Parts: sequence; structure tokens; C-alpha cells
Amino acid sequence: MSVDDLRAAILEQVRRYAREAFVASPFVPGVSPVPYAGRVFDGEEITALVDAALDFWLTTGRFASRFEREFAAFFGVDHAVLCNSGSSANLLAVSALTSPSLGERRLRPGDEVITVAAGFPTTLNPILQNSLVPVFVDVELGTYNVAADRLEEAVGSRTRAIVLAHTLGNPFDAEAVKAIAERLGLWLVEDNCDAVGSLYRGRLTGTFGDLASVSFYPAHHMTMGEGGCVLTSDARLKRLLESFRDWGRDCWCQPGHDNTCGKRFAWNLGDLPVGYDHKYVYSHVGYNLKLTDLQAAVGVAQLAKLPAFIAARRRNFAALYEALAPLAEFFILPEATPGSEPSWFGFPLTLRPEAPFCRSDLIAVLSRAGIATRLLFGGNLLRQPAYRDMPNRVVGNLANTDVIVERTFWLGVYPGLTDAMLEWVAGQIHEFVGSR
Ligand SMILES: Cc1ncc(COP(=O)(O)O)c(C=O)c1O
Repeated sequence: MSVDDLRAAILEQVRRYAREAFVASPFVPGVSPVPYAGRVFDGEEITALVDAALDFWLTTGRFASRFEREFAAFFGVDHAVLCNSGSSANLLAVSALTSPSLGERRLRPGDEVITVAAGFPTTLNPILQNSLVPVFVDVELGTYNVAADRLEEAVGSRTRAIVLAHTLGNPFDAEAVKAIAERLGLWLVEDNCDAVGSLYRGRLTGTFGDLASVSFYPAHHMTMGEGGCVLTSDARLKRLLESFRDWGRDCWCQPGHDNTCGKRFAWNLGDLPVGYDHKYVYSHVGYNLKLTDLQAAVGVAQLAKLPAFIAARRRNFAALYEALAPLAEFFILPEATPGSEPSWFGFPLTLRPEAPFCRSDLIAVLSRAGIATRLLFGGNLLRQPAYRDMPNRVVGNLANTDVIVERTFWLGVYPGLTDAMLEWVAGQIHEFVGSR
């Protein structure tokens, strides 16, 4: 048997294995778990993973190149730069903006970055990790995003950038935010980790900012296990992202390639001797945040399913909304930002102050019924132990952010949920509310 035939036979067996090994068990209400999120896959992902394993290339390779090309095309942007997590993607996006090569526009220590405290820690962390000062603004209940006019009030003399997530897949007012950023010469970074497929006025989120991040952790719209990506249509920023990702190097050869620039031994950079091997010239204090080709191979298979995943999330959200709308006197229901069509990450609910029950009782009852819930990540990050001593500025108050800490939680809408599961979730919430 030739090597190619052997590979084909192995992959055929893997497909067969996947069909036998991963059979969904029937849903038994109260017994089967109803997760908030999870991997949705079939034999295609496992076959792709084994295909990459048989290459034994291990680091970034052919699957990563293909994924970057196809993912950029999905968004209609020029570049998708893969890395090992959504957190790394945010770190790369903000770090790239500190590059001395950006001249006057580079972010310098002490510069301010406008963001929100109601969110995920690693949207905020790269601001602190780059010695920048976060400026916090409050968000709205229902949309869980910042109102654009509040953003404008936050701008001070040292403000240089805006870093915002599309909360739980609900787009922030991307056109208004972009207009403010452009008018005031601020960088805009979209944390699009929870919003792949979300539309704002018909345009995909992740395409408004100078840079946007994506996460491929299993809870997200599509997965590689661990993985992330930065999107940009700015060729200069793409080079900077790759430099920070790949040890800070000046060279832009792909792994396993040499002399892409055609003058590997002819550069004269820093205080190094002329001709110092370009592979070992560092223009930034960088990291190594690359991912492996095994992860990228899973991503290639998942990408083919992305449109169906997005449609399923919207369907599941609509089903929960219809079932829970009669409880609007007890809960603030989620509100899509006007003009948007979210690809929801979750279904957020905030207990109204007059609700005759508390969040912890409700989520404990749901948990006993096998139904997973989540909080809106860190709630108010300023109240988290890690951030006690961080330099920051707060604009106005964070009253709604504090409400989120006390009274908000969210339910899953991921494509692995069936109609029966969603009915069980809504039924349990109705029963709980009815019993109070
Ligand atoms: C808004 C947001 N940004 C960033 C991240 C970090 O992504 P990762 O877990 O891939 O590091 C998450 C994770 O869930 C997130 O929800």
C-alpha cells in the first residue's frame, strides 16, 4: 500500500470510529445535562485532526494558512492572524498598537483606553499589561453595551484608543463608535470573541475596528479547542501582530521557510553588524502565541459549519425569547442593539428589583434541574480581587455594571441545544417563578 493509500484508509477508519463513538444520547429532562455551551462536531473535525497529526508538522502549517485565508474571506477582511486564544488575540491587538513603527500614533505607557468593567478579564488585561490606563464607562441593561454618547464623554487629553467587546454577541453601536474613533483619531479594537456572525446594519462585527479579536475556545461560535485570531485590513498592523506573536522578530518567514524577504543576510538594523541573520533580529518585545496545525485543522472543518451554527444560535435565542417573554415583569429581557442582528453567545436575563426571588435561588434550582447558567463574566471587574490596585479612571458611575454583578445571569443558546432542552429550560424558569 502506498503512503497516500494508507493515509486514506486511516482517515476512512477515523470517520467510521467517529460515527460509532460519538452518538448523542436521548435527552431525559432532569437527568441529562443542559450545558450553556460546548463543542458541536462530527467525524469531519476528527478526521481533519488526524490528517494534521499524520503530517506531524505540529507547529503552524498548511491548515493554519488555509484557515487564515478562509476566515478572512468569511469576514471580508484582508488578514486573519491566528494565535493560541482569544485572550492572546486581545493581547496581540493592543500590543501591536504600542509598536514604535507607528510613530506618533503608537500607544505609550500612561495613555488612556476607554473600555467597560462589565465583561471578560482578558478584554481589559492587555491594557494593563501594556502599562496603559483603562477608562471605565457604564453599560445599558438589556443590551449590556455602552451607549455611544457616554463613550464620547469619557474622552480625555490622553485618550488614544477604545477597546470594547460585543457583549454576549450583541453588537455595540459599531457605526457610532467607529465615527467617534475616526473623528478623534482613536484606535478601535473590537473584542469579537463572543460575536462571530453578528451583524450591525448588515455588516459583520469584527470589520469595524482597526483590529478585532476572535476566540475558538469550545464555548464559542466555533472551536479549535484552544485558539484565537486577530482580524485586520491594515497590512502594516498585520505585520506588527505577527511580530508580537512570533517572539517579536522582524523577520516574517512562515515556519519552515527562509529568506522570504530576499535579503536575509543584508539588513542593517539596531546596533547589530550589517548582515546579521534577519531571523534573529527583534523589533519588538514579543511573545510566542502561535497555535499548532492540529488546532487549525479542527478550525478548517468547523468553519464549514459556521453559517449553520450562527443560524442555530439565532433560532435557539428566538425560542427562549418567545417562551420567557411572559415573564417580563420579573426579568429584563435581552435587547438586540437597534439595527443589529446578533449571533448570540448567550441569553442574558436581569432580575428586576421587584422580583420576589433572588438570582442565587433561581440558578441553584436550575442547576439541580441539570441546567447550566453563567454570570456576565467578571461582572464589575473593578470589584474583582485582581484589579484592586490598578490605575484607572471611572466616568460617572457604574450603577448598571453593579446591577449586573447582583442580578444578571445567562442561559445557553449554542447549537447543541435541542427544542426539548430549551422547553425544559423555559419550563423550569416558569415553574420557579410561579412557585414564589
Ligand atoms: C469577550 C471575551 N473576550 C475574550 C475571551 C478570551 O478568549 P479565550 O478563552 O480564547 O482566551 C473571552 C472568553 O470567553 C470572551 O468572552
